[in-house]
Amino acid sequence: MDAVVKFTSQSQGRDRIFRATQYACALSIYLLRNNTDRKDLVAKLQSLESNISAGRKLLRLGNTANSIVAAKQTMKLSDRVLCLCLTAANINRALYFICDNVLWARNVGLIRSIDKERWSIHAFRYYLFSLVMNLTRDLYVISQLMMHKVRDNRFKWKMNQHLKECPEVAEVTIPELDALVFLLLETLRSEPTVALDTVKNICDLFIPLDKLGIYKSSAGVVGFCGFISSLIGILTFARSTLRIKP
Ligand SMILES: *[C@@H]1O[C@H](CO)[C@@H](O)[C@H](O)[C@H]1NC(C)=O
Repeated sequence: MDAVVKFTSQSQGRDRIFRATQYACALSIYLLRNNTDRKDLVAKLQSLESNISAGRKLLRLGNTANSIVAAKQTMKLSDRVLCLCLTAANINRALYFICDNVLWARNVGLIRSIDKERWSIHAFRYYLFSLVMNLTRDLYVISQLMMHKVRDNRFKWKMNQHLKECPEVAEVTIPELDALVFLLLETLRSEPTVALDTVKNICDLFIPLDKLGIYKSSAGVVGFCGFISSLIGILTFARSTLRIKP
């Protein structure tokens, strides 16, 4: 099990690069869809995209073990909300990878008897639930940080300066709302790890919502959001100081 976990965490960096390439292909296909002279290129991109997607499924075979180990660790967190959100996220992520592995086995012909559509819907449901749990964690952490900031005297001073500097804004809009937005932006600016994780999770959300038909966006939106979230994924993988903890 340890060896599997070690190997898959090493291949995660590679997977992030493949994921970015996959969504870059999807986005380019969308942008070139009406361009008649680029039919050849679009066909090549389509084949590249489906090959990367299949290759990534193979790389993800050990990820179930990885998520179970992660769930065991987050279960020990002393903060109840974090423990609940992250453990639920990791368990759903493990279930997602199980479905993903079954779909892989179906694609390569190891098993034939399963309904591809149904398993794919199951996979996206678990993925969506994992994302929602991750986002709940982000919102919880942001609210904690905001409350902490409000009590900070230096921040109170800064906030008063801000409200004094733009009296005309404060007059037209609701001052409380202005203060709240200021507080939120200041919080996100002082904690880039949380800001990045939130943006990543929101971008990722469009993918399962579209696939499950809950919120239909265009292939362009899915490609763009997937690409942005993959770039953030690469960034946080390369710079551990930008990675949200735990
Ligand atoms: C949820 O967050 C955990 C920990 O940050 C991460 O490992 C996991 O990939 C996230 N889940 C999804 C579906 O992105």
